[in-house]
Amino acid sequence: STLEMEVEQIRKGNFEHFMQKEIHEQPDSLTMTIRDHLKTIRRSRRILFIGCGTSYNAALAARPVVEEHSGIPVTMEIASDLLDRQGPIYREDTAIFVSQSGETAYTLEALEYAKSNGALCVGITNTVGSAIARGTHCGIHLNAGCEIGVASTKAYTSQIAVIVMLALALGVDSLSTQQRRNAIMDVLYNLPSKVRDVLKLDRDMKELAALLMEEQSLLVFGRGYNYATALECALKVKQVSLMHAEGIVAGDMKHGPLALVDETLRIIVIAIRDASLNKQQSVRQQLKARKGRLIVMCTEGDAEFMCLIEHCLQPMINIVPLQLLAYQLTVFRGFNVDQPRNLAKSVTTQ
Ligand code: G6P
Repeated sequence: STLEMEVEQIRKGNFEHFMQKEIHEQPDSLTMTIRDHLKTIRRSRRILFIGCGTSYNAALAARPVVEEHSGIPVTMEIASDLLDRQGPIYREDTAIFVSQSGETAYTLEALEYAKSNGALCVGITNTVGSAIARGTHCGIHLNAGCEIGVASTKAYTSQIAVIVMLALALGVDSLSTQQRRNAIMDVLYNLPSKVRDVLKLDRDMKELAALLMEEQSLLVFGRGYNYATALECALKVKQVSLMHAEGIVAGDMKHGPLALVDETLRIIVIAIRDASLNKQQSVRQQLKARKGRLIVMCTEGDAEFMCLIEHCLQPMINIVPLQLLAYQLTVFRGFNVDQPRNLAKSVTTQ
């Protein structure tokens, strides 16, 4: 009828066809897709990061940025532990699932669990069409490219970058925070060249690996933004070089780890120029007083590489030489780099 045709024309607005209209709607529809969820996340009472292995560590590295910019309490969950406890999750929660493969069994089960409890579920994966990418309400694709080595490396830095960007998106765009947000964005933009710079440490890391290859054990002390760096370094070392390694939050040193320190123990202390530097210097002195054999990772003079980088973004730079160290250690020790014994790239059974 004429009336029907008129209604249709109104719905088409100034366009000839719906298809044409819908093509032109995409800037708005895309904004809405993301914005609607951002609004829900902003309103949530708590953000939970859920993952396993390196993916968990990546979320841990980015947690301070999310807390700072969103103002929402952030809790960390190793997927299996959340399930073991059947930890409480509510409708007002946002659960963010971090998984390179998007197929890890415990992370996937935790997703089902969080969904059935009514939480908004967000996925951060590197695999389009994966179970976690499909099962979440919305998500972000890492686009880091295929990662084949069992030990995750490039996915780690991309996961941190994505979570930092999410944190910025969650933040209120007020004048008072604008400067800091812009600074972070500038550095994010320049991150690839910073990483290229630290990759030049390959030779030094090889020398360090030669020095450490016979050790039984390695401790890695970090804190603040680099707490996760310490955990991730230790994970890489044990995963591929099969050397015992432990990442330690330096502030807790006196509650146990200090007892291990003697003139034989090798310790990496991450003491980069950031808000924790003074505290880490004192940790360094105390470890030295107990004759620990320290390797201190610090900001080089007024270095080309580390200077002027936003502190919260440093974990993406600092882990790189430590990944190289784990790699070189493995080569020296003669183990399988890409397929460490007993481990799988994607753990799809529990
Ligand atoms: C396995 C891999 C790790 C990875 C972890 C989590 O243990 O060997 O490299 O970090 O699974 O995997 P996901 O795919 O969920 O990030």
